[in-house]
Amino acid sequence: MMDWERFYDRANYDRCAYIGGGRMADLVERFFEREGTPENFASVGCGPAVVPFLLAERHPDIDVYGFDISETVVRDNAEKATEEGLENLHFAVDSLPNLETDQKFDVVYCVATLYFVDEPRRAIENLYSHVRSGGHLVLNYPNEQSRRTFDREFEGRKRESFELVLSGANIISEDVVRDVTGAETRSYWELIDAEDEEFVDSATPCVVVEK
Ligand SMILES: C[S@@+](CC[C@H](N)C(=O)[O-])C[C@H]1O[C@@H](n2cnc3c(N)ncnc32)[C@H](O)[C@@H]1O
Repeated sequence: MMDWERFYDRANYDRCAYIGGGRMADLVERFFEREGTPENFASVGCGPAVVPFLLAERHPDIDVYGFDISETVVRDNAEKATEEGLENLHFAVDSLPNLETDQKFDVVYCVATLYFVDEPRRAIENLYSHVRSGGHLVLNYPNEQSRRTFDREFEGRKRESFELVLSGANIISEDVVRDVTGAETRSYWELIDAEDEEFVDSATPCVVVEK
């Protein structure tokens, strides 16, 4: 399985957003325009936190949180936030499928993460439990099409990193998300008119679940 602590422990990992780069922050802002600007926003499995940093810079009134299983990336992010004087940006080590924080958020955002998490159904249930009433979960997950694409395109170490998807253990569908949350789902990409973005296709599903 992917060892994220070792991955970030190697110096000089890329400060990238793994799906869509910094463009994803623009799209989150479009989401705010459609559904309302939140008071707080949490990225779970935030990694190097490209989206949280951009949102915190652009929206000083929103409290932005980043949670990740890797102590290294959380420490690096926290140092960077302090250096940049971003007092509305907060990081903590926490992990799915059971986040320890008892906070609730207007938006819980989990992108490019469920691919690597054991017990993905429990993780979805837990993510949704951290959404405030009236808030939203934005969830990207691996589906059958992701598995087919990864099987065709990924080799060597990359295949190992995605073994939970390639083995079928983490294949999710919109029906599963509806079943686990007990709520309706909408396509995030459709909602924000992002279906033509180059990184959006049937292998990168992303849904919004309102609470
Ligand atoms: C591919 S990166 C995605 C980072 C970010 N969400 C993005 O889109 O750029 C996946 C992240 O999930 C984190 N992660 C993996 N398993 C996790 C778990 N069980 N709970 C929380 N974070 C986890 C990893 O440490 C890594 O930073």
